[in-house]
Amino acid sequence: MKTLRTIGEVREAIDPAKRIGLVPTMGALHDGHLSLLRAARADCEVVVLSLFVNPAQFDLNEDLARYPRTEEQDARLAEREGVDFLFAPEPGELYPEGFATWVDVEETGAEGKARPGHFRGVATVCLKLFNIVRPHVAYFGQKDAQQAAVLRRLVRDLDLPLELRVLPTVRDVDGLALSSRNAYLSSEERARALALPRALEAGKAAHARGDDPVAVAQAALNGLQPDYVELVDVGGATLLASAARIGATRLIDNVVLEGELR
Ligand code: PAF
Repeated sequence: MKTLRTIGEVREAIDPAKRIGLVPTMGALHDGHLSLLRAARADCEVVVLSLFVNPAQFDLNEDLARYPRTEEQDARLAEREGVDFLFAPEPGELYPEGFATWVDVEETGAEGKARPGHFRGVATVCLKLFNIVRPHVAYFGQKDAQQAAVLRRLVRDLDLPLELRVLPTVRDVDGLALSSRNAYLSSEERARALALPRALEAGKAAHARGDDPVAVAQAALNGLQPDYVELVDVGGATLLASAARIGATRLIDNVVLEGELR
């Protein structure tokens, strides 16, 4: 595996004639990311992992400085998954002085409303990564379903020549969705955080018997501070999604109610 730091190095190293798979991440890799790398390895000739803690997608009151940074360990895991190139640029490489062009997808659902400016940062950095790496396929996790919906809209609206694949959320044995932010939870908070997947499962069961999934999930989130519980349509599937705060940490999760996420 080769580590690339600059856009010039990417352009030189990656052959655009090959089928390229890109897994964009902010690092602190967990099994969810590894499942995306495995899918890319199975589908593509060249697998690129990008690792960039994107300052533009952090809210003002969210701590960019405390986001986990574990590049050495990430590189070891990536190498083991057969990644060909790790693209890990410095912030100034993607946002040089005078940077002034942003991509704003106007429909971002409850997650976008809860985090103003967040998806503008995500859409901008992803469009840049797509332009730099020129993947045929880019891989994202279902846990960030609203992010996937925003990026599908970006790809469609701007006629980008790539396919997005959304793969199922990977969970710990007790049901908590894997997330780099789980590292912030104390053991007591982690135990309380289980209310989030349990509430979504309760909402799903309610939906199956004809009851209101949002109301049931909301009631089951007692003890947590929910930002929202809502239905989201992503690529042919309807999801029940929620964000909740456990102490200083904000977690998101969702379950498929109907259809199939592709
Ligand atoms: O899902 C993430 O880790 C980030 O939002 C992404 C897609 C890498 C953009 O910075």
